[in-house]
Parts: sequence; C-alpha cells; structure tokens
Amino acid sequence: MSDQAKQQSPAKAPGPVIDLDLNNIQGDILSGFPKKTETNYFFGIDNPDLFKQQLKNFIPLVKTVAQVLKDRKKIDDHKNAPHLPGGKPHLIKLAGVNVGFSHAGLAKLGIVDTNLLDTAFLGGQAADAEGLGDPGSGTGPTFVPDWDAAFKGNQIHGSFLVAGDSHPTVDSKIREIEKIFGVNTPKSSICHILSISGDVRPGVESGHEHFGFLDGISNPLVIGFDQKIPPGPAPVHPGIVLLGRDGDNDSTGKPNVRDDWMVDGSFLVFRYLHQKVPEFNKFLSDNSLQLPGLSKKEGADLLGARLVGRWQSGAPVDLAPFEDDPDLVDHPDKVNSFEFTAERDFQKICPFAAHVRKTNPRADLEANGISIETKRILRRGIQFGPEVSKQEQREQRTIFARGLLFQCYQSSIVNGFQFIQKSWANNVNFPPFQKTPQVPGFDPIIGQGANRKLSGYDPNDPSKELALPADPWVVPRGGEYFFVPSIKGLNEK
Ligand code: HEM
Repeated sequence: MSDQAKQQSPAKAPGPVIDLDLNNIQGDILSGFPKKTETNYFFGIDNPDLFKQQLKNFIPLVKTVAQVLKDRKKIDDHKNAPHLPGGKPHLIKLAGVNVGFSHAGLAKLGIVDTNLLDTAFLGGQAADAEGLGDPGSGTGPTFVPDWDAAFKGNQIHGSFLVAGDSHPTVDSKIREIEKIFGVNTPKSSICHILSISGDVRPGVESGHEHFGFLDGISNPLVIGFDQKIPPGPAPVHPGIVLLGRDGDNDSTGKPNVRDDWMVDGSFLVFRYLHQKVPEFNKFLSDNSLQLPGLSKKEGADLLGARLVGRWQSGAPVDLAPFEDDPDLVDHPDKVNSFEFTAERDFQKICPFAAHVRKTNPRADLEANGISIETKRILRRGIQFGPEVSKQEQREQRTIFARGLLFQCYQSSIVNGFQFIQKSWANNVNFPPFQKTPQVPGFDPIIGQGANRKLSGYDPNDPSKELALPADPWVVPRGGEYFFVPSIKGLNEK
C-alpha cells in the first residue's frame, strides 16, 4: 500500500483493519464523486489495438478513491474559506472521471473473463430485461425491451463517467477524453454512441429525486473504509462491493476465484429510469389519506411517505409514522436507525412494500437469522430532465422527459441489483411473513409486473388494498452492466 493511501486510511477503523489500496480503486465506487452535474458517455470500440494504446494516455485522468477524498477535503476547506464580497463562495472547479466496460466491450478487447463470475454481467442488461420485468415484446430469446435504440444490441462497449461542479468543467473533460481517443478524426479507436447528462435539482430540491424525496441517505458503510459507523444497518465487508476482497464469496461462502487484474474492481449497474412526476402527484392527491386533523395535502404527503418509507424530508416513516419530523434527518444517529421490527404483522407504521423496506428489509429478514449483507448495493446516480412545468402541473401529465440515472456498485449483480429488483421489488409475496394475512404487493416505486397492488397503505386499516396504476410511474428506457476495473487492472489489460 502506498504512503498516500495509508494517510487516507481511517486511523481507527471499526472491526478488522482491511488494507484497502485507495490509490487502486476508481473513485466513484467508495467515495462517490462530489458533483453538481454528471455525464455518462457511452462508446463502442472500433479498433481494439489502437484503443489499448490510447487507454494508456487516458488512465492518468481516472480519479481514484484517494483523489476523490482529497477533492472532498478541498471542498470542505473551501466552504470555510473567506467568501467573496457579497457573501458568495469562490468557485471551485473539480471534475471526476471513471471508466467501465460492458461484457461485449471486454470481449471486443479480447479479454477472457472466466473468473468474472456473474451471469448477469456476461449476458448484458438487454438480455436481462425480461427477467427484470421491463416492458417489451416477445418472450425468451425473442424478447425485445421497449428501450431506446442505443441500449439494444450490445453495441455499448464502455462508459466514461464524467462528473463535476458545472457543465463547462465536465464538457472540457469530455473534450480532453475525446482528444485522447481521437474521436471524429481518422485516428479514432472508439465511436460515441450516446451521452446522457444529469444535474442535481435546483434550490431547495437539491439532493431530492424528482418525486420530491431526499435521496442518497442510506448506503451501506464499508468496513475498513468508513471511519464512523452510526447506529443503523451493519456495515458490509469490502468484498460486497470490491472483487477479490474480504466478503467476496460464492454461494457456499468460499472466496470467489478472481484473477489478479480483477481485484478491487466493481460491477456498475446503470439504469435509465424515467419518472412520471405529475401522474405520481395526481395519484397521491386522488388517494389522499383521511386521518383526523389532516388536510388533503397532508394526507397526500402521508400516502407518499408510506409508498417510499421516508417522508420527502428524508425522515423514516418507521420513526415518524404519521407526521414528518425533518429534525431526524440532521441526526446521523437517527436517520438510519430503524429496523421495521415493532409492527411486523400489522404494517400500521410502515407498509411491507414501502420502497425502502422492499429494497433493504433490515430486521424483517435479519430477525429471522437471514443475513442480507450480500444484497446491499452502493447507490450513486443523479437526476436528469427539467423541473415539472406549469403546463404539466395543470394537465397532470408528463410532457418533458425526466428521471433518475440510477447507478449502483456491487461485487455481484446477481446478488445485488438483480436480486433486489427481481426477488424483492417485483415479488408480491416479499417479505415472506408467516403470520401476515396480507400479501405485501409490489414495490410501488420500482416494482414491475401485471396487476400492481399495494396493501398496508392505509394505517386505519392496513388490510385494505389499493390498485396501483397499470402504467408505472418509473419507466426503464435502457441500461447496461459494466465492470469498473482497478487502476492496476486498467494498466495490465
Ligand atoms: C432508497 C427513490 C430506484 C434501491 C431510496 C430512497 C428514495 C428512493 C427516495 C430513500 C432515500 C435513501 O435511503 O437513500 C428511488 C426512485 C427510483 C429508485 C425515485 C427510481 C426512479 C431504485 C432502484 C433500486 C433502488 C432501481 C434497486 C433495484 C434502493 C435502496 C435504497 C433506496 C437499496 C436504500 C434502502 C435503505 O437502505 O433503507 N430510493 N429509488 N432504488 N433505493 Fe431507491
């Protein structure tokens, strides 16, 4: 481990000290890029030999975890630095660049990957779309997802992830990358397929996804990396996110066999998820919960909170069942410190199918001795598209595309994203309580399938069912699975 990485390592890490080489791991994985805007630049590889040569000039642009931690410190120092006359902080220009390859991309580069043990990755996301419940036509091998054309046909070989403080910073980084790979010149090894950019929402909505809920609150903390572990779900072993590290095990509990170049890499899931915000708001208003003393608007807010499992402020419904308590969000010791135990059989407090309960069931499973460590994912991502316009508000329908560029990291897509989407969010019978009279139903936010229904939405009578609209509010329009190698892996392959 280099001196620099040692300096960045936590002085008093909880649990066993794990020698993570923060100079070897791409930065977005463990620390997440600080960002106001981010572009996913999807490319195909036309000339593999030339690409490998040009990649050598690109690798120095890749930000490692150690570098992102330094950037974060710069931002913190900057906040405390003297401001400009008028009280505005000085501008600080920072960009982060990472790269990942689809299985088709690795194959194009001639990289044999028998130890990249992940069937989802090997097939690519388009081949997985039917299993994920995405809309489309045909079945089995003839299934064609109803996605944007760029994501079909395994033509995406890689993705540059470029994040930064502003569009000019990100655009200039992209020009630098394009220059290295000779894009639009006879010396080009890649073709640009599609760029999708996202932006943090403006003003008070900053940090909130388009339905209005604060996002990015609950992510697993990683043993050996995160220094403070506040109350909440147990931290995960680094091998849940990084290949070849402690915890990267097969289904029998034995460490997965990984080639040296794969160690410290991670699988990235990208999903292009459109959100129908006016339709979502209309549903909340039409089905506003009637509780004593609640106005129609407050009843709609309560219903929204029960669908997500958190209020728009981010306060967990499990701790603030009937009234928002934004103060909880400012308490690192409280914001994640809930277990869904108190009302296992009743869903009076939090519906079984609430999005955060479906995607991280906590003690719903763990109290029965079932570990969910391997099902944890590190979520990143950013919003895309404009704010809802006056016309959309008036007509209560989506006119302009907006949503979430969902991204998450894990050492196994099969155990991580794919499992959460297929076996939990889309599974009406999950969580499988023995004594529960009600079928929990779909995750109302991301669950996909026919006859979408939700029980437990009404705290007055949790056995009541509510039909969810046949047209879901979250519509997948594409996606891909990528392997994000370590710096060593990039240099060696
Ligand atoms: C948490 C919204 C897609 C998995 C959350 C939270 C919100 C949210 C508001 C609570 C904030 C937090 O705990 O960070 C959305 C929206 C989505 C979406 C609007 C689509 C447009 C997904 C997908 C997955 C997913 C596709 C995985 C299959 C999770 C997980 C958590 C979470 C694991 C944390 C649960 C916990 O640990 O308590 N999401 N999400 N989400 N979401 Fe999503």
